[in-house]
Amino acid sequence: MTTAQVGPDRDLVALDQLVAHEEAAFIARLPESARLLAEATTSLAGGVVSNWQMAPPQTVWIDHGLGSRVWDADGHEYVDLHNGFGSMLVGHAHPAVVRAIQERITLGSHFAQPTADVIPVAQALAERFGLPIWRFGNSGTESTMDAIHLMRAVTGRERIIKVEGSYHGHHDAVQWSVYPGVDEMGPVRRPASIRTGPAIPQALAALTVVVPFGDFDALDWALTEHEGEIAGMILEPAMMNIGVIPPPEGYLEGVRDRLHAHGALLAYDEVKTGLTVGPGGMTKRSGITPDIICLAKAMGGGVPCGAIGGTAEVMESITDGTYEQVGTFNGNPLTMAAAKATLTEVLTADAYAHLERLRVRIVEGSEETLVRHGIDGHVSALGAKGCVVFSPDRIRNYRDFLAYDDRWGHAHWLVQHNRGVFLPPWGKCEQWTLSVQHTDDDVDRFLANLDAFGTMVRQ
Ligand SMILES: Cc1ncc(COP(=O)(O)O)c(C=O)c1O
Repeated sequence: MTTAQVGPDRDLVALDQLVAHEEAAFIARLPESARLLAEATTSLAGGVVSNWQMAPPQTVWIDHGLGSRVWDADGHEYVDLHNGFGSMLVGHAHPAVVRAIQERITLGSHFAQPTADVIPVAQALAERFGLPIWRFGNSGTESTMDAIHLMRAVTGRERIIKVEGSYHGHHDAVQWSVYPGVDEMGPVRRPASIRTGPAIPQALAALTVVVPFGDFDALDWALTEHEGEIAGMILEPAMMNIGVIPPPEGYLEGVRDRLHAHGALLAYDEVKTGLTVGPGGMTKRSGITPDIICLAKAMGGGVPCGAIGGTAEVMESITDGTYEQVGTFNGNPLTMAAAKATLTEVLTADAYAHLERLRVRIVEGSEETLVRHGIDGHVSALGAKGCVVFSPDRIRNYRDFLAYDDRWGHAHWLVQHNRGVFLPPWGKCEQWTLSVQHTDDDVDRFLANLDAFGTMVRQ
């Protein structure tokens, strides 16, 4: 993490005016997206296929993607830094992935029986992440659900621990204190478990204990208060749904040791971090290996995917049937063909060297731009992932994140979008993902737009 010039927030009135102006321009540019949305609304809930696609000011419909670029339904071209919420680390229509899927689909696309590709994919993941035994699923939600089921099956305990402000998918065990409100979240060392709406049974509240990121006191309290009851903790080793928050020095090791001392397990949710922050995710980067790793997104090269890896001891609970890890589409041949190409042909050492070069260019360029415009902020980046944080202070956890103004992220997102760079919507929460097909020119368009943004907010 690097920090540029810092200081107090200023000129939120100008920011409001900028948002109003850019939202009007955005709507005016996208008539075909508006038409498709109106048509879809008669047959799809909210006119979209996931609630996060209902991002203000209006859903953007995509026509196609190639390399580092996407084109919307109105024909505008963008440098794609949204990248399918980080799934497209390989870039769009990568020739190796296209070839793998084309070859596989002519041989049949699904059998619910293993095909030979499952072996090299499992072997590649074992090699990269350092956990020997794997199983596949179809999404990040399935991966974290499997991890929690597995921790419960192995330990015979029911409670789990999760971090305040972390998103791990949309199943019951983890839909607690994802984005809790200030009034409800409770004291910092004893956060309340706040459900994500009435779809999540209140009766399950006691099963998910919430702690702040980076806080050993709260974790120690949770483990002693519930001595002998905690199956394990699910943890994003670097938080990535409230920007990019690296773990404090010694945190991952301290968490693992504390959990093990209390007979509990550690599961990393590497759905976002895995493969994007380095070839072996945060696991290899940190050198602290958990008991279970959850993967999805980037490992499939753009095809629905999920995986859990574990120690031989933990995964024995699957082998012996204590935990029945199943799924009709697990190890789907198209997914496995795309994953094999992604892991063995695309995400090579050269590809990571390229990503690192782009990371340096985008981080240094952004910091220089912030300083030049006197904008209070900094850049937080890990591997292919990063974001500009429009706050003078380093964000350490969810409560820090809540304290800075949403309008900066949204205004920046709009300015980038209207000028041909597609960042993930929900500007303050998400982060860019570079792909192996991005170039210096792509990064430079982002930097030119950040420069334009600086000029606009300082006018
Ligand atoms: C850290 C993390 N875990 C799990 C998930 C759930 O993944 P999916 O949307 O594939 O179910 C997400 C999705 O954004 C995520 O960011």
